Amino acid sequence: MDENTRKYYIETYGCQMNVRDSELMAGVLRKEGYTAASSPEEADLILFNTCCVRDHAEKRLMGNIGALKELKDEKPSTVIGVCGCMMQQKEVSDRFFRRFRHVDLVMGTNSIASLPDYLMRISAGYRVNAVTGINEDVVEGIPSVRNLSHSAFVNIMYGCNNFCTYCIVPYVRGRERSRRSEDILREIRSLADAGYTEITLLGQNVNSYGNTNGDIRFPELLARVNGVDGLKRIRFMTSHPKDLSDRLIDAMAENSRVCNHVHLPMQSGSDRILKKMNRHYDLNRYTSIVDRLRSTVKDVEITTDIIVGFPGETEEDFTDTMAAVERIGFASAFTFKYSPRPGTAAAGMEDQIPEAVKAERLKRLNALQNRKTKENNEKYAGYTGEVLIEGFDSKNSSVAFGKYTNFKMVYFDREGAEIGQYRTVTADTVRNNSLRGHIQHDND
Ligand code: SAH
Ligand code: SF4
Ligand code: F3S
Repeated sequence: MDENTRKYYIETYGCQMNVRDSELMAGVLRKEGYTAASSPEEADLILFNTCCVRDHAEKRLMGNIGALKELKDEKPSTVIGVCGCMMQQKEVSDRFFRRFRHVDLVMGTNSIASLPDYLMRISAGYRVNAVTGINEDVVEGIPSVRNLSHSAFVNIMYGCNNFCTYCIVPYVRGRERSRRSEDILREIRSLADAGYTEITLLGQNVNSYGNTNGDIRFPELLARVNGVDGLKRIRFMTSHPKDLSDRLIDAMAENSRVCNHVHLPMQSGSDRILKKMNRHYDLNRYTSIVDRLRSTVKDVEITTDIIVGFPGETEEDFTDTMAAVERIGFASAFTFKYSPRPGTAAAGMEDQIPEAVKAERLKRLNALQNRKTKENNEKYAGYTGEVLIEGFDSKNSSVAFGKYTNFKMVYFDREGAEIGQYRTVTADTVRNNSLRGHIQHDND
């Protein structure tokens, strides 16, 4: 390889939106002649794609950026950039730009296509603070380098209009904007032609797709994606319970390539707290969606997000959450301690919950969910289904892992299978909370 080729290293924090944005930045850089570096030390350009959804993400980032000062002192030509959601908070990016003099570039979530211009200015000796507005038009046609060659994220919409009172996303990702269905389908067709078999449609609230641009609605979009030859699995996230329609549940049942999994954040099991969160549903509505999904979509699994210690959450509210988790039986759950985000409504609410109480509630909730995960796993003894192979056990590469259509992960003897391939796997036992199985051969 040409020794003069410049190299990039991108460190990504946060959700799939950021993962996808990093793929686009990689594509833009590749077009500029860069190649991927395998470590920050080897790179000429280091980019941090940041998240600010919880405090934890910020602290980690600060430590990592601070640590790069040494690298920059040793090799001053290294360009260091920070982008993504956290930088989209103007006061944070300005403070950041002033404080970390070894950072050459700060930019937000909407200027990926302008990256080459910023780099040109930096090579002319400037530092660049280029955070732009959050409601920019959808830009099509940005090149990208995808992380995987069998499974792809496809954005269907950007931003969020929901303003859940705890959440910073609407402030850093702007108003909801849907991509045109023709553009989405064109992208998916070309992915299928390139050999991709699994597609995950991405949006903060995919169920409201098409609301803003008068395009087809989400169930119809799913049906059209289902018609793309070559695809085997269509996934989507995230679903908001307030917009999850019966029509969508029917579309999941009717379209054979649409996977039987829904990530459906419940956030709380207390109606009082759900109201304070501005979620626009109550527990009754939530459980009725779950019931309908289970009676309509075969072997469906439901995963969720839950926040503990939202302002004003009493022991009784928390007990409601525990009871809901006990009753619903999620396949798995991401659980979080409420983290006040500057500028959000909940950050200014009275009755903020002490850290120790949040920690104690989180511990109880996790213990319950671990038990529920295990209980749920028990029903898989003897279950047979197709698995998409995602990787190999880091300690034993003869063991592969992958997911059933409903998102349940299973480990099994690899038998020569490669990442991206499909195998029929029968689950046998539950070990350390995960499913163990074996590849099923036709004549077994
Ligand atoms: N758009 C998605 C989720 C976005 S953020 C949705 O609406 O479901 C992912 C998860 O982070 C949320 O579901 C929520 O559980 C959690 N989260 C968001 N803001 C938070 C905060 N301030 N403190 C703790 N958890 C938070
Ligand atoms: Fe945040 Fe709510 Fe929007 Fe999800 S729906 S991104 S939790 S404001
Ligand atoms: Fe974080 Fe931005 Fe996603 S704040 S969770 S990376 S939309």
